[in-house]
Amino acid sequence: MLPYPDTLLRGIGRNLFLLACLALIPSLISAAPRDQSRWDRKYATEEFLFGTQPIRFLVENVHLLPKGRALDLAMGEGRNGVYLATQGFDVVGLDISLKGLNKAHLLAKHNNVKIETRVVDLENHQLEKNTYDVVLCTYYLQRNLFDQIKNALKPGGMALIETYNIDYLRYANFSRKYLLEPNELLEIFKDFKIIRYQAYDDGKEAYSSIIAQKPKGN
Ligand SMILES: C[S@@+](CC[C@H](N)C(=O)[O-])C[C@H]1O[C@@H](n2cnc3c(N)ncnc32)[C@H](O)[C@@H]1O
Repeated sequence: MLPYPDTLLRGIGRNLFLLACLALIPSLISAAPRDQSRWDRKYATEEFLFGTQPIRFLVENVHLLPKGRALDLAMGEGRNGVYLATQGFDVVGLDISLKGLNKAHLLAKHNNVKIETRVVDLENHQLEKNTYDVVLCTYYLQRNLFDQIKNALKPGGMALIETYNIDYLRYANFSRKYLLEPNELLEIFKDFKIIRYQAYDDGKEAYSSIIAQKPKGN
């Protein structure tokens, strides 16, 4: 016997619902939770994996950065964000790893400063617009974040980015998609004023760094 039309429609609706649920599964089991447990495991040691000292590019150029609110993306154990706090910035750090951020708070305490932190998956997060004087992002390359970084800066605010570039393949195995191409940072920030830029290679490591300022009129 054929089903009545309303039974048939309910059946189709149920199937569509099931299909929609199936389509959602890949995003529910996306890389992010794996990244979180991977980084939490890495940081589950007293040792600071990336050291407690800020990167040289930041120390050498901190006097150029506009004082105020600083956002440290993928802050990790806080070596750079905590340094900015010691220099008088109000620092907010975001990272997927609570273990990393807990160590950042320990480092802040050790330096007699306070920082604010939030556990956030940057792959699924919107940064507040026109909020920060400085946005810092070191050794974390998520290309679709750059537009958000630009929008998160106040006019006149500065982005400071540093991470490995493709020359690093001479010294280490690394996934190429997480390495900067030649001049890539210059291209990304071509609508900003370039304050400092370097492509550095010391025979052991190769990375690119930029400080770029958002136009004051925007
Ligand atoms: C190589 S570490 C760099 C940490 C810090 N920026 C530094 O230079 O010391 C990369 C950081 O990215 C964080 N991370 C990885 N995936 C992330 C995601 N989807 N959202 C937020 N943070 C993430 C990790 O937890 C880790 O702290």
